[in-house]
Amino acid sequence: MLPQKLAAAINRQIHQELQSAYHYLAMAAHFQNEGLDGFARWMELQHGEEMQHAMRLFRYVHRRGGQVHLSGLEAPQIRQGKPMVVFQQALETEKANTAAIHELYAIANEVKDYATVSHLKWFLDEQVEEEDSIEQILAHFRIAGDDASALLLLNRQLGERQPEEETEEEEE
Ligand SMILES: [Fe+2]
Ligand SMILES: [Fe+2]
Repeated sequence: MLPQKLAAAINRQIHQELQSAYHYLAMAAHFQNEGLDGFARWMELQHGEEMQHAMRLFRYVHRRGGQVHLSGLEAPQIRQGKPMVVFQQALETEKANTAAIHELYAIANEVKDYATVSHLKWFLDEQVEEEDSIEQILAHFRIAGDDASALLLLNRQLGERQPEEETEEEEE
């Protein structure tokens, strides 16, 4: 059984992942409205990843005999402006996600639930990847500046993103 304090913290994290997914979905809609289908696709795949993160924790709670309690999501507020501004917001979302995972990891250690500590290691690595990939995109935005053809090329490149394979962990 999961210790109560940890079960509550994992539930908060499930909410955090779902809220992030919702943010990315709103960003995808924003870019569709702007006619930037490549950026929209990238955000849509990011939405899918956050949903997978939520589901990893959702299934984990149940495997450990705990209960999931879902709470309401907030309406996402997407910053208006250049495409780069939205990607900057995405980076902030990921930094908040990283901080939340670290907090959860600390609680799992505090209550000495080492199975959860182990389960969360995947998330620690994932956050490094997530932040790094958005940092790289932001570097490309800085290089592109206000050059429309460079921005359209970037839109096309990001539109080529493929969904990641789900890892074996979830094939129960
Ligand atoms: Fe996530
Ligand atoms: Fe993420």
